[in-house]
Amino acid sequence: MKQIGIFYGSSTGNTEAAATTIASALGMESVTLHDISETEPDALLSYDNLILGASTWGFGELQDDWQNFLPGIAELDLGGKTVALFGLGDQYSYSDVFLDAMGIIYEEVRARGAEIVGAWPTDGYEFDGSRAIADGSFVGLALDADNQDDLTPERINQWISQLKPAFQ
Ligand SMILES: Cc1cc2nc3c(=O)[nH]c(=O)nc-3n(C[C@H](O)[C@H](O)[C@H](O)COP(=O)(O)O)c2cc1C
Repeated sequence: MKQIGIFYGSSTGNTEAAATTIASALGMESVTLHDISETEPDALLSYDNLILGASTWGFGELQDDWQNFLPGIAELDLGGKTVALFGLGDQYSYSDVFLDAMGIIYEEVRARGAEIVGAWPTDGYEFDGSRAIADGSFVGLALDADNQDDLTPERINQWISQLKPAFQ
């Protein structure tokens, strides 16, 4: 497998913790972790396989580091890249805008020509609305550290085993 770049933004550490668990599940030697608060967007171009992780803040808004980083992605050509997404949110307190940031990033990365892999079923979540849904599934792995943190390790393991064949 080619090197995978994991890029994440995290305000209170939940997305960072998920990124680290994802890296371990993939095997650390095939992964490089990037905190986007310390990274330039064109670092994405160093990888053919990418995993992007974001929490949602405000009311359906990007996490702060992603607010700064995403406009830089709009300048890039991501044709030929394979991209998987994961998002952190709170399905009970923000039921109308659960994981919206993952949807915002999906829309941008797709518009830049990337192939998006790693869709995830909505079974097992309770929410009223999300911008991170396409064709009836989440556009990436949905995690809720506030309410379902006990499910996170198993969700990550399942998602990774589904994802691995898509990363060449
Ligand atoms: C002030 C505030 C606003 C939030 N807004 C949303 C939201 O709009 N949608 C959502 O799904 N989660 C929302 N959340 C939940 C966070 O996304 C969640 O706690 C996440 O795990 C934080 O991850 P981080 O520590 O990596 O930033 C919000 C949390 C707080 C405290």
